[in-house]
Parts: sequence; C-alpha cells; structure tokens
Amino acid sequence: MKIRCETPQDYFAIAEVNTLAFSQENEAKLIDAIRLSDRYLPKLSLVAEIDHLIVGHILFSYIDLVGVETLKVLGLAPMAVRPQFQNQGIGTALVKAGLEIAEAKKEAIVIVLGHPHFYSRFGFQPSVIYKIESPFPVPTDVFMVKPLTSYQEKYKGKVVYPDAFNSL
Ligand SMILES: CC(C)(COP(=O)(O)OP(=O)(O)OC[C@H]1O[C@@H](n2cnc3c(N)ncnc32)[C@H](O)[C@@H]1OP(=O)(O)O)[C@@H](O)C(=O)NCCC(=O)NCCS
Repeated sequence: MKIRCETPQDYFAIAEVNTLAFSQENEAKLIDAIRLSDRYLPKLSLVAEIDHLIVGHILFSYIDLVGVETLKVLGLAPMAVRPQFQNQGIGTALVKAGLEIAEAKKEAIVIVLGHPHFYSRFGFQPSVIYKIESPFPVPTDVFMVKPLTSYQEKYKGKVVYPDAFNSL
C-alpha cells in the first residue's frame, strides 16, 4: 500500500470511496467544497493506493478556533476506507501519515468529530480537556483533539467550521 497526496486525477475515485464508505454523497460533496475554498491544504489530502486502486482517503483542512483570538487549526474530515478494505490498517496508516505531515508543518492541534474507539489510539482526547468547545450538540467523547508538539495553551475556545461544511 502506498500513501501519497491526492492529484486531480484521483478526485473521482476519492468521491467513490467516500460515497461507498458513508452510503451517501454528503462527504464527497464536502470534499469538493473544501477544495474550492481557501481552507484547502493539498498536501493534507492523502490517498491510500493498492495496485493503482484508491482504497482510502483522509482530508485535513483549516477550521477556526475562536477564543480570545481566532486561530486556524486543522480539522480532520472526512476520512473513508473502501468497505472491502476496512479493518486492515488502512485508516490507521492514513491518520498516522497525516499527523506526521501536520507535525512537520508545525501545526498546533488537530480536531475531529468521530469514533472515540478509533481515534483514541492516536492520542486524540475529548476536546473539553483542552477547553475546546464543539459547535455541535454531541457527546463530549466524540469531539476530540490531538495536540501536536507546537500546541500552546492559547488554543482554546469554540470551534467554528467554515462555510464549506454547511453543505454536509
Ligand atoms: C472509520 C474508518 C475510516 C477506519 O478505517 P479502517 O481502515 O477500517 O481502520 P483500521 O483498519 O486502521 O482500524 C480498525 C479499527 O477501527 C475501528 N473502527 C472502524 N470503524 C469504526 C466505527 N464505525 N466505530 C468505531 N470503531 C471503528 C475498528 O473497530 C478497529 O478497531 P480495533 O483495531 O480495535 O479492532 C473506516 O472504517 C470507514 O471508512 N468507515 C466508514 C466511514 C466513516 O465512518 N468514517 C468516519 C471516520 S470518523
């Protein structure tokens, strides 16, 4: 399996993987909307490829953390693995690869809304521990953050998702 940055030639397969994994098109549409926005980070849209087939995808883009000041932080969303390829470590490899790039970019924190059983293995913790508030009325354990080496205490406040996320 190879993990690499997406290219425009991958867009169709990425949409397919997301539509199959989520059984709906919302996440594929979200990816399109993020790509068209100023929050898109091409180097943090990664695909997992096996024999030229895109089997998984992960996207990190900038979202806002609004406290005393408004800070740009990384939001992890969406991520998907082709159903027949799930539970084989592909999702884990994509998260690890993305976190390494985020560290190298000296990003401070990554925010995700997702399955605690899956994300806790990477060091994601409930955001409330870091005084970071979810914009959604969700249980505290599903709104998680992973502080990176550049994390500082000023990273607290309420998360605001950019307009692209309104399409979800
Ligand atoms: C979630 C997802 C990306 C994980 O990718 P993957 O390649 O299957 O994950 P891995 O093989 O690296 O890891 C498998 C682990 O994830 C856990 N996992 C997978 N889906 C899960 C879910 N819906 N809820 C909780 N845990 C889940 C598995 O139980 C397994 O745990 P274990 O290692 O303790 O047995 C993939 O299952 C998927 O695309 N699901 C549908 C789309 C989705 O829900 N995406 C949102 C993620 S927030």
